Amino acid sequence: MVNTILVTGGAGFIGANFVLDWLAPSNPDACPVVNLDALTYAGNLASLEPVARDPRHRFVHGDINDRALVSRLLREHRVGAIVNFAAESHVDRSILGPDAFVQTNIVGTFNLIEAAREWLSTLGATDRAAFRFIQVSTDEVFGALEPDDPPFSETTPFSPRSPYSASKASADHLVQAAWHTYGLPAIITHCSNNYGPLQFPEKLVPLMIRNARRGERLPVYGDGRQVRDWLHVSDHASALRAVLARGRPGQTYNIGGSAERENLSVVNLLCSLLDELSPRADGASYAAQIAYVTDRPGHDRRYAIDQRKIAAELGWEPAVAFEQGLRDTVDWYLGNDAWIAGIETGAYRQWLDTNYRSGERAR
Ligand code: NAD
Ligand code: TYD
Repeated sequence: MVNTILVTGGAGFIGANFVLDWLAPSNPDACPVVNLDALTYAGNLASLEPVARDPRHRFVHGDINDRALVSRLLREHRVGAIVNFAAESHVDRSILGPDAFVQTNIVGTFNLIEAAREWLSTLGATDRAAFRFIQVSTDEVFGALEPDDPPFSETTPFSPRSPYSASKASADHLVQAAWHTYGLPAIITHCSNNYGPLQFPEKLVPLMIRNARRGERLPVYGDGRQVRDWLHVSDHASALRAVLARGRPGQTYNIGGSAERENLSVVNLLCSLLDELSPRADGASYAAQIAYVTDRPGHDRRYAIDQRKIAAELGWEPAVAFEQGLRDTVDWYLGNDAWIAGIETGAYRQWLDTNYRSGERAR
């Protein structure tokens, strides 16, 4: 009988939120979690502090590319499902240095597939059929939409346009191939932009909150009219639970927040929330710190998700309204200075210098 899930990348933003949700007191019957994470710049053990002493959580510091390690974990813990969050996840970093994206997102996913196939070959038919390989992918594999285009559905053709999205699309193809060729009971999810607690401040929402509070400029790429569909990370966790419990192997499911917003409107809303919750000493609005900077090369104009399939098949819908979710997120960052201070490493400051203070983006 297999009864443990292997979460990869569970010290990152979404993975940690998923693990905390899985092991929450409201879910006393949850099976144990083995959490494999390489602790790159984006991995943070402080995020897992609430489950540090929970016997159902076992953290393993390691790389998804380490086949012997992954195989041993699957065998020793008799793993019944893999949820693969481990990835290089930031588009801007993929533009400046795509190598790690190929290595982790493509080769690493291939390695997990192969280890899973080997493990499945040792199981009886019932356990094999019950096994799940969940590949957490992104809506960015579908490319970019024009303002009046219909949203991405599960049948929208792939058209990735950044090294990040190309690496995720490649991994998705490998997962689909493993289902069709070997019968690996895999499911792929394509979610939209997540926001919420524990997000590394290289991404839009936490970066703006951090910069605002430090009196630094709020760098809006291009005209700021790009549109993203914002999904609260707790809604993403609940969607993944539904996919694990009721999703059909071989299928893909889109997961969105039903909250399409222009970047500029997100930044302005963040400013007004901060004006209310943590006003500037001089009484001016944080919006005064907004600065238009050089656009991201190949910047996708709009993402939007058609999630009728997951709603109809699995009965899942997002529960968090964007304005409330953003308010709660600002509140969380305001109350968690220690978590933020812990990631203000030399490496992070060097990244800010490279991406925002280079001649290119200094406009
Ligand atoms: P993140 O960058 O915050 O975390 C990634 C985690 O993976 C980190 O803890 C890191 O240490 C770990 N990791 C990286 N390389 C590894 C390796 N080789 N072996 C083991 N662990 C490794 O990312 P996130 O925002 O939590 O995203 C999680 C997943 O969701 C990713 O697959 C990403 O592509 C996908 N996704 C994210 C978003 C979003 O808005 N954040 C949107 C769509 C899809
Ligand atoms: P990001 O959080 O990097 O997610 P993604 O690129 O995966 O959508 O960016 C969200 C949007 O915000 C995207 O259109 C780029 C834009 N953006 C800025 O305008 N300024 C910034 O400093 C960052 C990080 C992003």
